[in-house]
Amino acid sequence: MRLAKYVVIALVFLLSGCVQHKANKKTEKEPQKELSATNSTSGSANEYIALNDSVRNALIVRGKDIARKTTSALQKHLKKAIKEEGLEYAVNFCYTKAMELTDSVSEAESVTVRRLAKKYRNPVNETDPEESELFKSYILEWLGGRPLSPKIIPDKEGHPVFYDPMYVGTVCLNCHGEPGKNITPELMKTISELYPEDKATNFKKGQPRGMWAITFTEYKVK
Ligand code: HEC
Repeated sequence: MRLAKYVVIALVFLLSGCVQHKANKKTEKEPQKELSATNSTSGSANEYIALNDSVRNALIVRGKDIARKTTSALQKHLKKAIKEEGLEYAVNFCYTKAMELTDSVSEAESVTVRRLAKKYRNPVNETDPEESELFKSYILEWLGGRPLSPKIIPDKEGHPVFYDPMYVGTVCLNCHGEPGKNITPELMKTISELYPEDKATNFKKGQPRGMWAITFTEYKVK
C-alpha cells in the first residue's frame, strides 16, 4: 500500500515531462510591475521594452516562474489519471492533452509556453533553425562542463523569448531512455504508434533533453 503510494507520486512527478502547454497570464503578473516601471512606453497590444539588464532579469524571473508553474499544474492535472490507470495510459494522455493544448495556442493569450527539442518526440515541438543553433551552443557549453543559464532572445516579431535548457532525470528515462533497457517493449510499442517520427529515446541521465521557450507576446523589444 505504502509502496503503491510512492509509485503514484513518482509517476505524477515524472509525467510532468510530457506535455507542451500554455500558462495563464493572469497568474503571472508580478515581475511585470518591474518591467512597466523601468522601461516600457505604453501600448495596448504590445508594450515596448528596452532589453537592458534589469528587464532581462525580470523576464528571466518570470520565465522561471512560469516554467515551474507549468510543471506543477500538469502534475496536479495528471494525479487522478495516473492513480486510476498506468504508464501506457499516461503516454496516451500526454498525447491527447498535448494536442488539445497545442490547439489552444492559437487563442489570444499573452504568454506562450513551449517545450522544444532537437531530438523530438512530437514534431510540433521541433526547434527551428535558430533555436537549433541555440540548443547546439548549450550542448557545447555543457560538454565543456560549463553551467548553462537561461537566455532572453527576441523572436522574428520582436517578442522576447525566454529559453532555458532542461535535463534528463532518472524518471525521464522511463520514456526517453534506452528502449529495452529503460523503456519497456510494451511502452515502446505505444510510443512508436503514437509518434512514428519519435527521435526522443536513448537519452542518458544528466544530458540536456530540450529547452523551455516562453514567448512574451505582450512585449516588443525596442
Ligand atoms: C510517461 C512517459 C514520459 C516521461 C516519464 C517523460 N516524458 Fe517527455 N514526453 C513524453 C511524450 C509522450 C512526449 C510528447 C508530448 C507531445 O505530444 O507533445 C514528450 C515530450 C517531451 C518534450 C517536448 C519535446 C518533444 O520531444 O516532443 C520534452 C522537452 C520532454 N518530453 C522532456 C521530458 C523530461 C525532461 C522528462 C523527465 C522530467 C520527461 N520528458 C519524462 C513522454 C514522457
